[in-house]
Amino acid sequence: MSILKIARLGHPVLRKLAEPLSDQELRSDRMRQFIDDMIETMMEYDGVGLAADQVHVSKQITVLEVADNPRYPEKPKVPLTVLVNPKITPLTEEFEEDWEGCLSIPDMRGKVPRYKTVKVQALDRHGAQVEFVAVGFHARVIQHEWDHLNGKVYLDRMRDFSSLSFLGEFARYWLAK
Ligand code: NI
Repeated sequence: MSILKIARLGHPVLRKLAEPLSDQELRSDRMRQFIDDMIETMMEYDGVGLAADQVHVSKQITVLEVADNPRYPEKPKVPLTVLVNPKITPLTEEFEEDWEGCLSIPDMRGKVPRYKTVKVQALDRHGAQVEFVAVGFHARVIQHEWDHLNGKVYLDRMRDFSSLSFLGEFARYWLAK
């Protein structure tokens, strides 16, 4: 396994629409290896999610996991999940605002509105169909990663930039509130 290089904001790959994977592509040894590398890369950098375009591959794959994460302490746990060709449908009009960060936009946090509840339809890494409902932080992470596949980053979703902060200032001025 290997740790992959992360594309940072400004790299054109982050603004492209990612291509869906064919069944054959998903089952290839190369793709299995790549998904393992994505998982390892996410863990190495303490991400709670990673989209393939963030490691320079414009394909519709995301991985997510929330365990004991030093970048996001106190967040509800999400098991390791691989979503291929995901479709997201909001199940509510209700938005929640909360903090997000992104490995492609290092050392920053901003408050982002997201749908509170979404339905997720995707393939898992073995090509099996999965469907589930995600709520709260879980739904937030999925919407963030799904945006990456559509060439968007969380900054595009912020209502305004008044909360946008470097990590040091975030900890000092916002976390305590
Ligand atoms: Ni991100």
